[in-house]
Amino acid sequence: MILITGGSGYIGSHTNKYLNQKGIETLVFDNLVYGHLEFNKWGKFYKGDLSNLDDLRKVFAKNSIKAVIHFAAYAYVGESVIKPNKYYQNNLRNTINLLQVMHEFEVDKIIFSSTCATYGEPQYLPIDENHPQKPINPYGNSKYFVEQIIKDYHSAGFLNYCIFRYFNAAGADIDCEIGEWHEPETHLIPLVLDVPAGKREEITIFGTDYSTQDGTCVRDYIHVTDLAQAHYLGLMHLLEGKESNIFNLGNGYGFSVKEVIDCAEKITGKNIKRKFSERRAGDPSTLIGSADKAKEILGWKPEYNELEKIISTAWHWHKKM
Ligand code: UFG
Repeated sequence: MILITGGSGYIGSHTNKYLNQKGIETLVFDNLVYGHLEFNKWGKFYKGDLSNLDDLRKVFAKNSIKAVIHFAAYAYVGESVIKPNKYYQNNLRNTINLLQVMHEFEVDKIIFSSTCATYGEPQYLPIDENHPQKPINPYGNSKYFVEQIIKDYHSAGFLNYCIFRYFNAAGADIDCEIGEWHEPETHLIPLVLDVPAGKREEITIFGTDYSTQDGTCVRDYIHVTDLAQAHYLGLMHLLEGKESNIFNLGNGYGFSVKEVIDCAEKITGKNIKRKFSERRAGDPSTLIGSADKAKEILGWKPEYNELEKIISTAWHWHKKM
């Protein structure tokens, strides 16, 4: 049995589906604060909170857990600046709770969701795993600190890990059973698609004076099912007793905000009205990752690695919402 914390959320639910399609038994552990009950379509589900050690111990006592995939976290960068305590309590303290119970029950394998936000302002592109880590917000810090803690537990001999640093997760399940659903929504692609869906008048572009090809921010968008595939491969890697490691997950090329909107117009066949505003605080101009290491060591092969594929799966899901 594989325990998936935060398995009712966006990346967690796509990974849960992927693992079940591969015949792997899963148990989702989620407090449903941001996760969706409707996304628990595969495996077992336990509603619990990582702040509650008894909840966790119950799950570990009743199930033979072989490894943990740890998604559960808060992930709003802007909110983390205003409410750092919320982020350190959940992302940091609750992860330590999970590691404690894993240690008590001698579960020694973890896959951890980290982020390109741990790099901060890029010093060179594409960003590889050796790029210095200097997070610029509490969200990035919380993930960075957990990375260090996991490495310390590993050095002490009781934990093996795969740490994944995601670039911009996007798109939806190809069968449209699950997809991106955040409340509140702050991510570019679903907000852009709100316009052709008739839910929003216009999309606001944050900043047009960046030193990029068209002045808007550039991001490396990676399909959520490709992320799920990487978690499956990372899990196999650990279950086969292979070395603990850290991997970037991105496509290795970036698209500007304007390019994303242009592509969404093409896919939806509708004109998307744009409004221009100031830069959003804390946004680096360009984030592009090199995932050569995951391809080489894990054999990761992203399948939906074109922006059109990413946005068209997102659009199918968005129309259904
Ligand atoms: N953007 C707009 N208008 C919007 C929303 C977003 O112009 O209404 C722009 C942003 O300024 C940014 C780009 O679109 O340049 C992408 O923004 P998202 O909010 O979709 O994604 P981020 O790059 O800010 O955030 C993502 C993840 C975070 C992670 C971060 C790392 O969602 O969890 O990458 O930098 F921490």
